[in-house]
Amino acid sequence: MNQFLGQHILSVKQFDIDAINQIFDVADKMQRYAKRQARTRVLEGAILGNLFFEPSTRTRVSFGTAFNLLGGSVRETTGLSSSALAKGESLYDTARVLSGYSDVIAMRHPEIGSVAEFAKGSRVPCINGGDGANEHPTQALLDLYTIKKELQFHGKSIDGLHIAMVGDLKYGRTVHSLAKLLCLYKNVRFTFISPPELGMPQEIMDMITNHGHQLNLQHSIEGQFDADICYQTRVQEERFPSKDEADKDRGKFRLNNAIYTQHFESKTVIMHPLPRDSRADANELDNDLNRNPNRAIFRQTDNGVLVRMALFALALGVENLMEEYETPVPWHYADK
Ligand code: CP
Repeated sequence: MNQFLGQHILSVKQFDIDAINQIFDVADKMQRYAKRQARTRVLEGAILGNLFFEPSTRTRVSFGTAFNLLGGSVRETTGLSSSALAKGESLYDTARVLSGYSDVIAMRHPEIGSVAEFAKGSRVPCINGGDGANEHPTQALLDLYTIKKELQFHGKSIDGLHIAMVGDLKYGRTVHSLAKLLCLYKNVRFTFISPPELGMPQEIMDMITNHGHQLNLQHSIEGQFDADICYQTRVQEERFPSKDEADKDRGKFRLNNAIYTQHFESKTVIMHPLPRDSRADANELDNDLNRNPNRAIFRQTDNGVLVRMALFALALGVENLMEEYETPVPWHYADK
């Protein structure tokens, strides 16, 4: 049964293990289209309203790419100032209007709860592409999909995972959503490494302990971590009260080859939701790790297309029809 048909996707709280497995099974089927080994026109004629009221590169473009790869068309609105929200129109009214022009909507907005508010007025499914510091459910799914694939490579499963999350855990919505999703699995060890003022919200730490998982808090990268995954994050300057406040924490938690080699195991997988801040005063994930095969950051971004294709297919009920609408690829495609 497809529980996503016609449904909004607003929070990771909507998912259980069966739902996640269903999304990942469909995502696996998308690989051949994402790699251009075949085309499918299954969503030909369908329109994605891609509304990004906050900066984005990979979420916005991968939502659009995912929809195009299924044969659909994309209409974009970017920036608050270029929409009638800047004239005082409510999210509800905006949703009533734009859902009349679309079959599905993906949306990012700087305010917590904004996408859920928008969804109340929408006549079509809405997918949360990030609402302020709250949640980023599709990023959490692509992160989890990546973790599953990376662990499979090492002969492991998500149950029993040890993940170290590093940096700005207060404002980083990707770590909030990912930590909540991981609570669904068994015997997960969480190590949170952050300055005290940028710690993981208490509500999420309570969720972790209430589910019986192990939690270890550190304020610096010290000692040895037998972590399967090191998930590094950027200082989310845009959510700090001021740039001066962000400056105090910027550059405190860097991961480079020397730190990785000293504190992590040689097989620890390196993840980051991106963008990484590569400016000299931040540089939380150094380029000297670029050649490390455990650096999975661009496998994450590739997986984002697969997971978003799966969500569109499920929300629009075409998850079993892709092959029926398949055509060959006439152009030379790179083996990516
Ligand atoms: N990971 C992520 O959300 O990236 P963007 O801000 O570029 O969409």
